[in-house]
Amino acid sequence: MTRNRTFAVTNQKGGVGKTTSAINLCASLAATKRRVLLVDLDSQGNATMGSGVNKYEVELTAYDVLTAMRPVSEVIQKSPDGGYDLVPGNSDLTAAEVELLELDNREYRLSYALSQVQDQYDYIIIDCPPSLNMLTVNALVAAHGVLIPVQCEYFALEGLSGLMATVERVQQHLNADLKIEGILRTMFDPRNSLTRDVSQQLLQHFDQKVYRTVIPRNVRVAEAPSFGQPVLAYDRQSKGALAYLAMAGEMLRRHEQEDADAAKATSNAEQPIESAQAESAQAASVDSSPESTPGTLPGEHSTH
Ligand SMILES: Nc1ncnc2c1ncn2[C@@H]1O[C@H](COP(=O)(O)OP(=O)(O)OP(=O)(O)O)[C@@H](O)[C@H]1O
Ligand SMILES: [Mg+2]
Repeated sequence: MTRNRTFAVTNQKGGVGKTTSAINLCASLAATKRRVLLVDLDSQGNATMGSGVNKYEVELTAYDVLTAMRPVSEVIQKSPDGGYDLVPGNSDLTAAEVELLELDNREYRLSYALSQVQDQYDYIIIDCPPSLNMLTVNALVAAHGVLIPVQCEYFALEGLSGLMATVERVQQHLNADLKIEGILRTMFDPRNSLTRDVSQQLLQHFDQKVYRTVIPRNVRVAEAPSFGQPVLAYDRQSKGALAYLAMAGEMLRRHEQEDADAAKATSNAEQPIESAQAESAQAASVDSSPESTPGTLPGEHSTH
């Protein structure tokens, strides 16, 4: 079984496609039989509505998890057409931002809450608000990686340096294991020369961290949330649905490679000890001469 991976979808710049990417990535991962949880950490509640759950009718939300430490399992709903589970969010989260400041372990509350359900999911995706507030910090502390949707426009890179500084501060003080999982180019229009320029700069700066899949601007993607559906359920043949499926496929391939590399590194690390023991035992019992023990152990293979 694969280990859980938790990602914060974040960019303090508004309207860059965070929520759209969170919803459609969840639906695409669920379509490949992964067990997925989406956490709506934005008081706008867009991820909740876009998942087909009415934010005005939910009784318990991420607010209750963060402030009253309600178990996540009591708050989870199913996205009717998404194939994934949801921790809803709504305007109550505005109060959480303020209340958290007074509470113990204020940065660790989401991390603690999600650790209770981590075994039940392959992927947990957290949709963050468009600011670097205490809710976003909670997401960054709970996450293994940061997934950054970027609209390739003027000022896109400027915003990214602020985000990178925040990620570094969280790495230094709160979550040393946090990584940049990937940068996703959204609402991509290859005919626009500014889009191409900014895209080129992203590739120069972040290289392998930039997903090769781009998400095109596509009207079906924009329409789907008003039906409470991911685009995959709304129009599975649309360019947007296919792009998010491709992006999920790219992500899954990266993770399979990471898991294979990790398994290889573990077996390489164990092998020399085992074979050294076996060989020295053999040398002791069969041949008393120490020189006959092979001096070289199986070589280590670099994983990079
Ligand atoms: N690929 C796309 N094609 C067309 N429209 C898109 C696409 N991606 C997102 N949009 C539209 O752009 C707008 C902003 O997207 P979205 O809400 O996902 O951004 P966001 O970063 O979550 O915003 P906020 O910062 O307010 O939370 C929405 O109206 C959405 O429908
Ligand atoms: Mg959003």
